[in-house]
Amino acid sequence: MDRQKVRKAVLPVAGWGTRFLPATKAMPKEMFPIIDKPVIQFIVEELLEAGIENAIFVTGRHKRPIEHHFDINTDLERHLEEAGKNEVLKNIREISHMVNPIYVRQKRQLGLGHAVLTAEPAVGQEPFIVSLGDIILEKGSDNLSKMLDIYNRYGRSVIALFEVPEEEVNKYGIVDVEETEEGVLKVKELVEKPSPDEAPSNLAIVGRYIFTPGIFEKLRKTKPGKGGEIQLTDAMKLLLEEEEIYAYQIEGKVYDTGNPLDYLKTVFEFALKREDIGAELREFIANLLSTQNQLIDRP
Ligand code: UTP
Repeated sequence: MDRQKVRKAVLPVAGWGTRFLPATKAMPKEMFPIIDKPVIQFIVEELLEAGIENAIFVTGRHKRPIEHHFDINTDLERHLEEAGKNEVLKNIREISHMVNPIYVRQKRQLGLGHAVLTAEPAVGQEPFIVSLGDIILEKGSDNLSKMLDIYNRYGRSVIALFEVPEEEVNKYGIVDVEETEEGVLKVKELVEKPSPDEAPSNLAIVGRYIFTPGIFEKLRKTKPGKGGEIQLTDAMKLLLEEEEIYAYQIEGKVYDTGNPLDYLKTVFEFALKREDIGAELREFIANLLSTQNQLIDRP
């Protein structure tokens, strides 16, 4: 059984972001700020907490800002140094040394599965993580480390799951599972975006995966599925015919930043928790809501 150590993560960030147009016409949604930190930095920090420093970004047109973000910016550093802004300078320097990045270009946006396959030459024949570039997991819950523990025990692919309301199963890849031991689930079936009556459960795949390299061969065999895209879930179904796939139900919240409403909810939730701006924002929202309510109540 394959027990190679997981050392690399693939971050697919090449998507069009159509739900966010026109904002995403020239700016990657993965660089949208959650107040003052771009979404992709949260994802990289989560990887670092799990001990993963090699990040393979699958990028496309207009995704250069991601490369610049994790690179050294000597002009900015000099400016901050001269201005005596040492705290910010320290932070900016840390970001440039956060990861060992590799950038792989997905020339055509043929879907998430295709994006992962594009990373194959950089991954090689070893197990790897996939972290979606627009999903943030709540800090401190150690989900990736727990998934790595499962991988280290079983030597098989592991996917992260979370419960979604029944009426929302058609937005996700849904799985049927059985418990093999406490905290470890085994996947029995996978369905991409089922209707509520087709769905085998309300456990959805959440955008964090550990794959054995066997997934690449399956991705090569995967035909375009829903939406004409090469779906990662379809390749996982093929993999499941040959290898067991394990699953872990994550702890803590999931923040989807890939559509305007959920992005805004994320920004508000994070901002309300901030010491520097939270209290004032709370007051502002309360005032805003009471003015709105007065307008609605007016005859
Ligand atoms: P999404 O499902 O959010 O797709 O991809 P999208 O194309 O970016 O956004 P919409 O649906 O058009 O609004 C999940 C992750 O996979 C990446 C995206 O960049 C995102 O981080 N992705 C998706 C790719 O890298 N390549 C693709 O072909 C599709």
